[in-house]
Amino acid sequence: MAKKLCVNIDHIATIREARKVREPEPVAAALLAELAGCSGITVHLRQDRRHINDGDVHLLRHTVTGSLNLEMAPSAEMVQIAKQVLPNMVTLVPEGPNELTTEGGLNVEARISEIATAVQGLHSSGILVSLFIEPKMEQVKAARKAGANYVEFHTGHYADAFERRDENEVELELSKLQEQISFAVKSGLKVNAGHGLNYRNVKRIAELSDIEELNIGHSIVARAALVGMGRAVKEMLKLIASH
Ligand code: PXP
Repeated sequence: MAKKLCVNIDHIATIREARKVREPEPVAAALLAELAGCSGITVHLRQDRRHINDGDVHLLRHTVTGSLNLEMAPSAEMVQIAKQVLPNMVTLVPEGPNELTTEGGLNVEARISEIATAVQGLHSSGILVSLFIEPKMEQVKAARKAGANYVEFHTGHYADAFERRDENEVELELSKLQEQISFAVKSGLKVNAGHGLNYRNVKRIAELSDIEELNIGHSIVARAALVGMGRAVKEMLKLIASH
């Protein structure tokens, strides 16, 4: 079965925040992504609100017609926000203050009681919970123990190996992913995947079995900026020429 695509629009807000103005509007990007056929929209509400903010998340809840997936740290503050917003799914991720993007998977094994508490809080409001983890058996077991519905496997190591053209490493990462996907499904978990996927490397991940949904952000926003450039310049030239 074809995998679903959830588009992460954080970097539309990154462009907006570069100028602290109103455009580009993440809700408009979400609408266009949905019209193009994606199954859902993902945003990461970071503790420092460096791109997506609370207002964006509330607006998206009212406008996204597919699935809204809220990525967040497993903190009490974030759980409270999610319980007000009621996204379809929360993906719990680790969060460091100085990281450029989510750096690794959540160490569920080491943080089991904190994560299980967050999962319970979210479940009590009917929100599905996914845990962003490395493809390692101990993390899958811990995710099951913490009560998650889904795991999202981190594909960043695969993507890095692909960029380095390290074929042995690519094959190793793909086999680790497939092995842990199968183990997760056997354990009763559903499986998503993402991080670092782009137009060059996505094919091999799309070929893996039993992944429901791919979460892709940076490469889609980057490509949108490039394929939209010609039209944006033509529209501006037309305005200038008409005076
Ligand atoms: N999945 C998770 C859990 C993430 O934190 C991110 C980045 O925000 C993504 C997927 C998307 O990664 P990328 O922007 O590299 O496509």
